[in-house]
Amino acid sequence: MPDHTNHGPHVIETRDLTRRYGEITAVDTLNLTVRRGEVYGFLGPNGAGKTTTLRMLLGLIRPTSGGIAVLGSSPGSAGSLARTGAMIETPAFYPHLSGGDNLRVLARYAAVDASRIDLVLDQVRLLDRAGDVFREYSLGMKQRLGVAAALLKDPELLILDEPTNGLDPAGMTEMRALIRELGQGNRTVLLSSHLMHEVEQTCDRAGIIAAGRLVAEGTIDDLLGEDALVVRAEPTLDAMAIARDIAGVRRASLVRGAIRIKTLPGAELDPAYLNARLVGAGVAVRELRLERASLESVFLDLTNPNELPARGDWPGHPDGNDTIHDEEVADVA
Ligand SMILES: Nc1ncnc2c1ncn2[C@@H]1O[C@H](COP(=O)(O)OP(=O)(O)O)[C@@H](O)[C@H]1O
Ligand SMILES: [Mg+2]
Repeated sequence: MPDHTNHGPHVIETRDLTRRYGEITAVDTLNLTVRRGEVYGFLGPNGAGKTTTLRMLLGLIRPTSGGIAVLGSSPGSAGSLARTGAMIETPAFYPHLSGGDNLRVLARYAAVDASRIDLVLDQVRLLDRAGDVFREYSLGMKQRLGVAAALLKDPELLILDEPTNGLDPAGMTEMRALIRELGQGNRTVLLSSHLMHEVEQTCDRAGIIAAGRLVAEGTIDDLLGEDALVVRAEPTLDAMAIARDIAGVRRASLVRGAIRIKTLPGAELDPAYLNARLVGAGVAVRELRLERASLESVFLDLTNPNELPARGDWPGHPDGNDTIHDEEVADVA
């Protein structure tokens, strides 16, 4: 692995990172690059290997094989830990102590100046509740205290593992706004999430992980790609054949009983033209709508077995997920 200086463009770089638990390959030859100053979304369904990856980045567990550089040094080294703040899963605090006292304990332990405490409490909007005992905090406040703890060292790199998990909608909105704020300037934020819209709203770039593998990585704009036309028509197979025959159509696939049509880059498909072609061929068109490009459609594309790079068994991953698992995705091509 190249030796990155602290000024290099990549704050995190992994090379063929792999972690096995017995028969399970939780993380599979993962090549991740997180650049300085960006908010990077590490997106994948439950059980995809996000937490395992983040634990390896922090030196909490060892990889089975592969390389990692965090801020130019190996994970868990004094050099990278001093400049990294993290919240992995649900942070542990003393329930009977106030939020402020919990941070005082951590600050003393990490040899952080006590003047940082009010600063970070203010950053996460907990300053006025700092004297309340932790166990009486709402879940949103508990998570925000976790972020405050991660900020104590004023880290260059902030790693947050599904910080909105379990929060109510207002708490989620608040947490996302906070993450965007924390990601301003030079600080790099690595945010894991199983929520596509969360990453879409919050991040500059994202990597999509499924069954331990990175299946896509790029800017949100790159990942979003083109819009699609969705058609419900009968006979479905005739409609699909007609759609595939139209110039500029890259792909027509069957998704939950509807035909999803993607065009070649730069090509436009006029819905009125498509409708005329279908009706002219005696096909009954029941629904025709534009599906705006979203990370959800990227997910759908990636779950299409014929489109999956180098791995045929996804989405049948044992732990499954709540987003992809229940989709009936079929490609008739
Ligand atoms: N300590 C462990 N022992 C055995 N299997 C584990 C352990 N930690 C994680 N796994 C397995 O590794 C896979 C990835 O888990 P995880 O990294 O927690 O996924 P995510 O955070 O994306 O939900 C899952 O199949 C999970 O059951
Ligand atoms: Mg996890």
